[in-house]
Amino acid sequence: MCAVFRVIRRCSQCDGELPPNHPVIRGSAVIVSTLDCHSRPAHKLHTPNEAVDLALLTGRLDPKTPWVKSKVVAALVKPYATKAEAEKGIANSLREAYPDPAQANPIIKEAQAIYREHFFPEVKVDWRTYPDFVGHKNWNGCFRCHDGKHVAADGKMSIKASDCRSCHLILAQGSGEALEQINAKGHDFIHIDAPYAEFSCVDCHTGGPQK
Ligand code: HEC
Ligand code: HEC
Ligand code: HEC
Repeated sequence: MCAVFRVIRRCSQCDGELPPNHPVIRGSAVIVSTLDCHSRPAHKLHTPNEAVDLALLTGRLDPKTPWVKSKVVAALVKPYATKAEAEKGIANSLREAYPDPAQANPIIKEAQAIYREHFFPEVKVDWRTYPDFVGHKNWNGCFRCHDGKHVAADGKMSIKASDCRSCHLILAQGSGEALEQINAKGHDFIHIDAPYAEFSCVDCHTGGPQK
């Protein structure tokens, strides 16, 4: 499906004027297909965990606020039928969690912004709709085959899920000083609370609250 769009002269991100040789405004009209915008590279639907982590990392949410990640994720993943309903529901949940409006208001604003960007209740689309098989944390992805149970037609099975080092070299992990302990041969993976034991990430990780 194709559509001819009116020439856009301002950048949708910064609202600045685009230079005359910018590909978007060269010529008199731009022909784009549905997939120019509605594609994974163009429109990455973050999981609620990723979206909240990004907000914490960039200072849009304050990591010092007690329980902020779990409260915001919990407010985002409640079932809502429309965006308007979601905006109200998110505000109510977070006001209950943080009774002081001075504390609650910026958190509500950011949670609603995350919702607007990554949830589309009217068309029933969010991170759960289209599994992302790059990786293996929130969906089994690579572990659909590299799980230690499947073999190739010639009987080969060179990589098992538990062979983290076949695909990763963990140079450092943790936070603060731990991140300075760089090991060129690679560290063993340490899960947040325990050394790695053979497990499938999707037994617990969903992209939203852990199972
Ligand atoms: C078959 C190759 C493969 C194996 C085996 C593998 N991984 Fe991964 N892993 C990936 C890929 C690909 C990604 C996604 C990288 C990206 O998104 O850029 C990933 C992502 C990750 C992430 C980041 C997840 C996130 O989204 O925050 C972690 C942590 C991780 N792997 C740990 C492990 C551990 C621990 C093991 C061993 C138990 C392991 N991996 C085994 C390929 C593998
Ligand atoms: C549909 C099954 C399937 C999926 C899904 C899959 N692989 Fe594989 N992969 C294979 C097979 C089959 C082989 C060849 C046999 C082997 O080496 O285990 C292979 C081999 C590999 C190899 C070794 C290549 C070599 O030359 O030795 C790497 C690295 C690898 N896969 C990474 C990944 C990563 C990363 C993902 C996830 C993004 C992934 N695979 C997902 C089936 C799969
Ligand atoms: C037995 C349940 C369980 C399994 C299995 C599990 N995790 Fe976790 N993981 C958790 C819990 C609980 C947390 C802490 C909650 C949080 O911080 O969101 C966590 C936190 C994490 C985090 C830091 C927070 C985040 O969500 O980014 C990473 C990275 C992670 N796990 C990666 C993995 C990978 C990779 C695997 C598979 C190799 C895995 N986990 C398997 C339960 C599990």
